[in-house]
Amino acid sequence: MEIIIQPTAEASAEIGARIIRKLLLEKPDAVLGMATGSTPVSMYRKLIEMDLDWSRVTTFNLDEYVGLPQEHPQSYHSFMWENLFSHINIKPENVHIPDGNAADVPKFCADYEAAIKRAGGIDLQVLGIGSDGHSGFNEPTSSLASRTRIKTLTERTVRDNARFFDSAEEVPRHVITMGIGTILEARCNLLLAFGENKAAAIAGAVEGPITANNPASALQLHPVVKVCLDEAAASQLQRADYYRWVYDGKPAWQRY
Ligand code: PGA
Repeated sequence: MEIIIQPTAEASAEIGARIIRKLLLEKPDAVLGMATGSTPVSMYRKLIEMDLDWSRVTTFNLDEYVGLPQEHPQSYHSFMWENLFSHINIKPENVHIPDGNAADVPKFCADYEAAIKRAGGIDLQVLGIGSDGHSGFNEPTSSLASRTRIKTLTERTVRDNARFFDSAEEVPRHVITMGIGTILEARCNLLLAFGENKAAAIAGAVEGPITANNPASALQLHPVVKVCLDEAAASQLQRADYYRWVYDGKPAWQRY
């Protein structure tokens, strides 16, 4: 894993955006895995400002709530169009977001996995992390080999996400999410985490044992993971000084 610690969330989001820009300049028909939540918003804003060509890019989102109408302001469909897709030249037919209202959920999930394969696999997957270590909506004890499927949120995640709704009762209990196995097949994973609330989950994911209790820890098995943090999210890392030393010593050609 490459751990990149920046003084602020803004500076860390800038690095994340530069990593994606580098990929899109090298591979204009890249397949990107997208994430929602508060964390990637500033990186998406920076990508919009970079005015890149998205006309040949394909995207697959990590997850979606089950049962929310697509046009609900808190659906991840609405989130992606509001925060990124409406502001770039991506073709709507190249955008894939799980259908939380699919009549046959298992069939939808199998088709979603097949569509990722047909697209040639995901070049770069953007990830956030839950305060409980969930990645996508793979809650603790998710199989580390799991594929796209329906999951039940933990009470903690429902509480964490209640800030986007009028009350916790309105947060759907069920979601469709790519699995940890799906995420591990992306060619590169870009994990962003900002704030003190994420520090324990990040320490577990980066330095803890690989365990389904912190599903993001499965990323330790992946060959290309970049973790963009602010100081607060990095505050429980035991080897933070080493990560800074590595980043500061990068040769110029390796910089973003
Ligand atoms: P957040 O969510 O970015 O809103 O903190 C991250 C997540 O739940 O994966």
